[in-house]
Amino acid sequence: MPAKRPKNPARELLFGDLWEFDPAPETAPAHIAPRYDLFINGKSTPPKSKKWFDSISPGDGKKISEIALANEADVDAAYAAAAAAFPKWSATPGAERGKFLYRIARLLQDRSREFAVAETIDGGKPIRESRDFDLPVAAAHFFYHAGWADKLAFAAPGRTLAPLGVVGQIIPWNFPLLMLAWKIAPALACGNTVVLKPAETTSVTAMKFCSILQDAGLPPGVVNIVTGAGDTGAAVVKHPAAAKIAFTGSTPVGKWIQHTLAGTDKRLTLELGGKAANIVFEDATIDQAVEGIVNGIFFNQGHVCCAGSRLLVQESVAAEVLKKLKLRMRHLRVGDPLDKNTDIGAINSRKQLEKIRDLVGSGLQEGAEIFQPDCRLPSRGFYFPPTLFSGVSLSHRIAREEIFGPVLSILTFRTPEEAVEKANNTPYGLSAGIWTDKGSRILDMAAKLKAGVIWANTYNKFDPASPFGGFKESGFGREGGKQGLLDYAKIV
Ligand code: NAI
Ligand code: MG
Repeated sequence: MPAKRPKNPARELLFGDLWEFDPAPETAPAHIAPRYDLFINGKSTPPKSKKWFDSISPGDGKKISEIALANEADVDAAYAAAAAAFPKWSATPGAERGKFLYRIARLLQDRSREFAVAETIDGGKPIRESRDFDLPVAAAHFFYHAGWADKLAFAAPGRTLAPLGVVGQIIPWNFPLLMLAWKIAPALACGNTVVLKPAETTSVTAMKFCSILQDAGLPPGVVNIVTGAGDTGAAVVKHPAAAKIAFTGSTPVGKWIQHTLAGTDKRLTLELGGKAANIVFEDATIDQAVEGIVNGIFFNQGHVCCAGSRLLVQESVAAEVLKKLKLRMRHLRVGDPLDKNTDIGAINSRKQLEKIRDLVGSGLQEGAEIFQPDCRLPSRGFYFPPTLFSGVSLSHRIAREEIFGPVLSILTFRTPEEAVEKANNTPYGLSAGIWTDKGSRILDMAAKLKAGVIWANTYNKFDPASPFGGFKESGFGREGGKQGLLDYAKIV
């Protein structure tokens, strides 16, 4: 029996109905140790707390390793090592510091397959993304900042730049290795030393990274890594030796940090949450926009601070966009993060899965209309299907709060003015997307949107040379580019 032909064969391929995908698992070994201690003064160091916590793989819910729980005394030892290393490291010529950064970048490239597999096992993101995005972009950040290390004089012409001292850095779980690279590379390029704390659900690649630092011959104490949860992070923030704190994570924790540092002379940069508007005008290339919408919200399961989580569509094309988007969503493959065909992997943790379920529940309760394609979710591990809400109003929680999951809310608008007003009607201001055929409209909109990063006819593009950061409750300070570099230096 021939399969039933679709009404519009040019636009809808039926492969999904005719053939099953074969499993295509990535099988390279991840080399995850059964236990990781702290990394202090260039050495693996057992925690003074004598405590370790489990790290699990969200793909199947199984324990993969044990991670040291750093207490205040451990954090203190890390700061002591960083402070002791600072005089020599900061006096090392930029060209020499740059060589270490180049070496780190090349070693990351050499081991990128292994690191990609480890990242996917530990955090749940699809191997396609850790392989093609996280690892190459992390290496690119080290390369880029290696280039700056001996050219700092050009970053502030006519002025002299000096490092800040020891910087405390706290990173989240959505891009574990990439956020580490964003933090460590500019700090070292400027001559600072570092105490970094990874997120508690995703510490594995940071600990694996310590072996790269050793292989690169980085002097002991220049980078120290302490693992643990919020208490460990708070100890990093409060330590008197910190000259600067750089934080990426949730807005409530960011506010607490800003409070805690008020009245001290510590510098602070915060990269917090977002609720980005992805705006589609009627003159946009709709098929291309649909790909951009999908990338904007389903990339990394939607665990992206700059995710395009509020879709604003011009009313005249709303029905067409919705139809094409639903069709596209039916073709997304959700499941085993290690499978090379997987588009949407596992939700990072049970806690995050519960948060997503809670917010989706509120969307239903408040009267929005839900669409989820039929998809079989694995029986073990943490998974959530791609989800679309229409009939959303600006007052709904799903339109205001950061969901940090694969959940998109659609709103419509009639005029560009209305689009700007709706887009800016949020406490956040991290990113936005504009889809239109008209260059003048892009420039006009970009000037009116209150967001730190604005993409036009594309989404989620990252380059180490391009500064990233927000306004309002999305935080302040920039990462990447000359602007990000200068956040790790002072003018003397
Ligand atoms: P979180 O802000 O608690 O975690 C981020 C990092 O901060 C982790 O390393 C954590 O251990 C650390 N931390 C927690 N409390 C701290 C404290 N008092 N002092 C210093 N460091 C502390 O975020 P969480 O609970 O993992 O996620 C909750 C929500 O936050 C997510 O659903 C998402 O909406 C948002 N989020 C946003 C991120 C972003 O990139 N903008 C990243 C992670 C979460
Ligand atoms: Mg984990």
